Amino acid sequence: MRAATATCACLVLALAARAAVASVLAVPPAAATSGVSADGGDVDAGRIPSDFFIGVGSAAYQVEGAWNYSDKGLSTTDVAYNSRPDGGGQVACDFFHKYREDVQLLKRLGVSHYRFSIAWARLMPTGEPGVVSEDGKKFYSDLIDELRNNNIEPLVTLWHVDYPYALEKSIGGWQNASMVDYFEAYATTAFRLFGDRVRWWSTLNEPHMFCVYGAGHGRMGASRVQQGYSEYRCGHHVLLAHARAYRAYKRDFAHYGGKVGLTVDSYFTRPVTTDYDDVLAAERHQQFEVGWFLDPILGATGDYPPMMRAAVGDGRLPEFTEHEKTELRGSLDYIGLNTYYGWSARNGVPENAGNPSYERDQGVIIPEAADMNNPPGGFTWSPWSLRSTLLWMRDRYRPSIPFVITENGFSTTATTDSLEDNDRIAYFSTWMREMLSVMRNDKVDIAGYFVWTLLDDFEWGNGYEPKLGLVHVDFDSPNRTRTPKASFQFIADVIANGTVPERNLPSSAPAAATATAPLLVALLLSSAYSML
Ligand SMILES: *[C@@H]1O[C@H](CO)[C@@H](O)[C@H](O)[C@H]1NC(C)=O
Ligand SMILES: *[C@@H]1O[C@H](CO)[C@@H](O)[C@H](O)[C@H]1NC(C)=O
Repeated sequence: MRAATATCACLVLALAARAAVASVLAVPPAAATSGVSADGGDVDAGRIPSDFFIGVGSAAYQVEGAWNYSDKGLSTTDVAYNSRPDGGGQVACDFFHKYREDVQLLKRLGVSHYRFSIAWARLMPTGEPGVVSEDGKKFYSDLIDELRNNNIEPLVTLWHVDYPYALEKSIGGWQNASMVDYFEAYATTAFRLFGDRVRWWSTLNEPHMFCVYGAGHGRMGASRVQQGYSEYRCGHHVLLAHARAYRAYKRDFAHYGGKVGLTVDSYFTRPVTTDYDDVLAAERHQQFEVGWFLDPILGATGDYPPMMRAAVGDGRLPEFTEHEKTELRGSLDYIGLNTYYGWSARNGVPENAGNPSYERDQGVIIPEAADMNNPPGGFTWSPWSLRSTLLWMRDRYRPSIPFVITENGFSTTATTDSLEDNDRIAYFSTWMREMLSVMRNDKVDIAGYFVWTLLDDFEWGNGYEPKLGLVHVDFDSPNRTRTPKASFQFIADVIANGTVPERNLPSSAPAAATATAPLLVALLLSSAYSML
């Protein structure tokens, strides 16, 4: 069922990754060493602070299945992916039926937190306020109880790509300002039903990724694309929706004492040269990707970043009213960060960038991405990128709230993955130790870390080909048999021992390019980001 899909995309990505080796190694020494931390054999380098939490994350459409169970409404993602030869997320990991078994896996892993998303259309089939599915309600309620009975705290994401298709069809989804009202009704429903048992909420997941590649390119179930406009409308409405949900929580549900945040995605770029224009381009990339969503909430001006205002100067970037600015300002209890690796940036307009388009406005060429109009691609071995983006955010916003790493993980393919996934172990070891170094040496406040992800799952446009799980899932079997990989035991040991041991890539790993430069082993793998 799986084999027929998406291998071409992965091949392209593998080639892009090969190109990335060359481009990354070409970074001049001055740029290449910035942001690198060296733990220098410090025995405490892997020690995890006692109040730090470790969890794993997932998203509804990628694992649940049961797409037509009871009165669940059709989701945008059902429409976008269910007719694929691999069936899309119709069954996926069948988490909907097997969640009790998976909670036992979580317990074995020893995590204190589990991040999952509610399928909006399972809880509210059409998105119409007041129309709530009893079976949808029961499923999430039971899941939350099952987690808590096993001493696992849920972190619940309200919007992780999918939403009721009815809202896409009738009003054009996130491009329409009415979505703000629909989202507020949905968020308050979830707070009301589950708020007594959920302490961590995330309103949005990766709005940059969805608004650019979904709304702007018509992927992931978004339609009615008007490139160069749709991206910014989408971004504007999800931000306003976030602020409404946040304010509703503080107004009506504050007695539950929960935290409400959102999750941005960041693929930090370093300039390919020290030329002024390339340095500026790298900064622009960060402002367009992260500043787009955090400046209005945490920034000095309460508006979109200056570089976006300057680049999108013809009225396509919406304005906030004073009331909206007030609602947005400070509307976060923690900053969620999804990050997998970093890239490099050169000043210029990518080939094939639409006119107008987000890509043209941004004016950044990323050598690791063959075509910026396509979900960009090449994996780089770049633990520095985690530190760099955290420091950029810390220095820009000086937040008095903590970060939470809401996603970090390593992708292989069906052919390169194995139950002895030592490359994944090396990735987690390296990235987690980098994170601990940022906490200790740079005094960045990070409350917790979520591995992406527990189970091999449905990775959007690339289907079941990319493997990111700590646990292998047999998608050829109706039972979707789960088998923990070596990385599962590694994370279990990290949690049990309170320390992240140093694990390097085995020298025999075929994927590792031999690199004389200190940083850079690029792996010929597809990326989590490129799977729209
Ligand atoms: C639900 O979808 C499955 C395929 O994913 C199909 O076999 C089944 O008949 C559908 N059930 C209903 C009630 O439509
Ligand atoms: C937005 O939705 C409203 C209904 O809520 C509709 O009247 C309006 O035409 C929609 N706007 C656009 C631009 O689609």
